[in-house]
Amino acid sequence: MILTENNRFVLQTQRTGYAFHTTAGGVLQHLYYGVRLPREEDYLSVPVTRNQPGNALLDNDDMCREDLLQEAGTTGWGDLRQPLVELTFPDGGRAADFRFSHFERPENAAPEGLPSALGGETLKVVLKERNHDVYLELYYTVFEETDVIARWSRLINDTAETVWVRRLMSQQLDLPVGDYDLVTFRGAWAREMDMVRQHLEGQLQWSSGAGISSNRCNPFAMVCRRDACEDYGDVWAMNLVYSGDHLGTAEKSAYHQVRLTQGMGLLHWQLEPGASFDSPQAVMTYSDRGFGGVSRAMHPFVQKHIVRGYWQDRERPVLVNSWEAIYFKVSHRKVVQLARSAKEIGAELLVLDDGWFTGRTDDSHALGDWTADKKKLPGGLASLAKEVNALGIDFGLWVEPEMISENSELFRAHPDWILGHKDQAIGRNQYVLDLTRPEVCQYVLESMRAILGGADIRYIKWDMNRILGDTFSPAWPAARQGEVRHRYILGLYGILKELTAEFPQVLFESCASGGNRFDLGMLCYMPQVWASDNTDAACRAAIQWGYSYGYPQSVLGCHVSDAPNHQTLRRTPLESRFAMAAMGLLGYELDPGELSADKRQRIKDQIAFYKAHRRLFQFGRLYRCPSAEGEKLTMVVTPDGTEAAGVHFAALNQPNPIQKPLYCRGLHREKVYHLTNRLTEVHMKDFGSLVNYMAPIRIRAGSLVEKVADQVIKLPPDAIDQTASGAAFCQAGFYPVQPFGGTGFNEGTRLMKDFDSRLYLWTEETE
Ligand code: DGJ
Repeated sequence: MILTENNRFVLQTQRTGYAFHTTAGGVLQHLYYGVRLPREEDYLSVPVTRNQPGNALLDNDDMCREDLLQEAGTTGWGDLRQPLVELTFPDGGRAADFRFSHFERPENAAPEGLPSALGGETLKVVLKERNHDVYLELYYTVFEETDVIARWSRLINDTAETVWVRRLMSQQLDLPVGDYDLVTFRGAWAREMDMVRQHLEGQLQWSSGAGISSNRCNPFAMVCRRDACEDYGDVWAMNLVYSGDHLGTAEKSAYHQVRLTQGMGLLHWQLEPGASFDSPQAVMTYSDRGFGGVSRAMHPFVQKHIVRGYWQDRERPVLVNSWEAIYFKVSHRKVVQLARSAKEIGAELLVLDDGWFTGRTDDSHALGDWTADKKKLPGGLASLAKEVNALGIDFGLWVEPEMISENSELFRAHPDWILGHKDQAIGRNQYVLDLTRPEVCQYVLESMRAILGGADIRYIKWDMNRILGDTFSPAWPAARQGEVRHRYILGLYGILKELTAEFPQVLFESCASGGNRFDLGMLCYMPQVWASDNTDAACRAAIQWGYSYGYPQSVLGCHVSDAPNHQTLRRTPLESRFAMAAMGLLGYELDPGELSADKRQRIKDQIAFYKAHRRLFQFGRLYRCPSAEGEKLTMVVTPDGTEAAGVHFAALNQPNPIQKPLYCRGLHREKVYHLTNRLTEVHMKDFGSLVNYMAPIRIRAGSLVEKVADQVIKLPPDAIDQTASGAAFCQAGFYPVQPFGGTGFNEGTRLMKDFDSRLYLWTEETE
């Protein structure tokens, strides 16, 4: 709900309230963002502005902007904090003073050429620069049910001369004096989303200058009071619906107020007379229930307002991806074989990853030449897809359309289509196509149309395997080179908009060497993202935990891969790899045909189990439960609370372990639940030479005798069988079966190897 009385603006969601008003002089003064207050008048507690400012500046209304909570900070009028907008006027002057002009309630308003959240109720507040005919429009959209407020900004140049835009942030949030922490999610290739919590003093920032949102620092971030934790405390969260360079600033001012701003990275944009310029949309939420509260607002928001179209609320297929199974060694025969074994284990989609197009023998060739390699796939994609479909399984394909290899027909024909000079720092042997040029975008679109129109392809993995470096574009004059990085993203969005509209039922999965472009912008076009190239279960436990703060598991591609793992060479139990991948969109990144019959059977059971609970795993409400160091318990609960699943991961096994309860979250307090766990296999050979303590004959580790004994002798798996109320599971917790810790093993013992997990299920008892 949006209230607009007496130049006071109150934006209310179910649980939160956000308020600002105009001062007598027309400056937008921020009043409040927090728990929804009972009465509209409650939002009026106006912070006093100082008029005895020492050596600070006073404006012409005697306001000290440096000590004022605001909605749109600017430069040159005494506010020394990071501004929302930074301009250079025709005379070179940079001081800007935007004052309230009027407000409107538009039906549909969205930044031009950029994706934005669907739905909501919008307020537009128009400000005018006092000395120039430049307008700043601030758009606020309220998503009442999910407790999210979105913001974006538009600049309009109504002067007769060019104005330069250095910065146009999407949102600014000024918080009152207090002691806060900033929480950001940082990383690199294969180690995405490491949560970093820093005490907020002075200036901090979270940003990417990689040309894409990047795994270096995700756009999602939180600011919280110092005592906030998972379940309690005030937390404000922000994210950006954008996939290019981004900048988030957090700053404790000289007067101890805190300013947060978020938007695209700094630019140098030439705003011509009569032209307008839009920022991307940003979103924010507030919760007094800690980080968990933020996640449970952001998750449904992403599911309902960011992800859209045919796949929005649809269960996603279990897939087998060819990458770690065969890498570039693609052949028609091999792919069909892979599809056959994928079908056998119960997968629903076979994805042919990299290596299928003309001349693609390794990663230094052929990007840009999007036709099937006749040597590898003599019948082309259509006949391959047909043969795969005949096995009763869908066919999906990998592409990397934004890129071009020097060694490609495309490069030979259009060497000038690359972004940057020929002599540039290069990533994965490839250049980036100049998507600021319409003819290049057209080529990409047509190549993708030909692929999708030419064969029965139900899924596309859209990859992007390098960051942007030199982004010089010969298509633009020197004075406009500062626009190129943003124009690249506009070009990309244009392509994605057309393609996804033309092929609405194709399931697109965004990928950038894993999570190098995991953001809300891409999610507006592609309902899921390949979260990380790192498929090691132990690493995934941390990476997926990191993503879960801002993104629901229904957008997270998670695959079971072979052991030893290809990124870490670590061997983790197959069941642990499954449990971890089940907490997202399950896939297998291996060749099932190469596995033993026993392992294949176990995978078949895993997939059948996942399918039986797929809605819960993919769309259940996610809870991060209290977890001891080195352990993680994540739960998903159906919205009606009738069923829940939880994965408990523990990094290292300990001898003589301490028995600790596990505390649940999200179960309905009054409901009574029956708790069981997925039974795992216990192998005699896991005990190594220790079996000789019990065995009547000597068994050597690795011997044939051990192999046979392992197959014949079945050891009992640990099984929990407990009934209690939701309140009891959450407050008193439950004790998992005691772990093996160096002595004795029987049916009352749980064999938790290093990096092992248990998958628990809670079902409501109805009688
Ligand atoms: C990087 C992706 O993240 C991988 O999954 C795989 O698709 C390779 N690219 C293929 O080149």
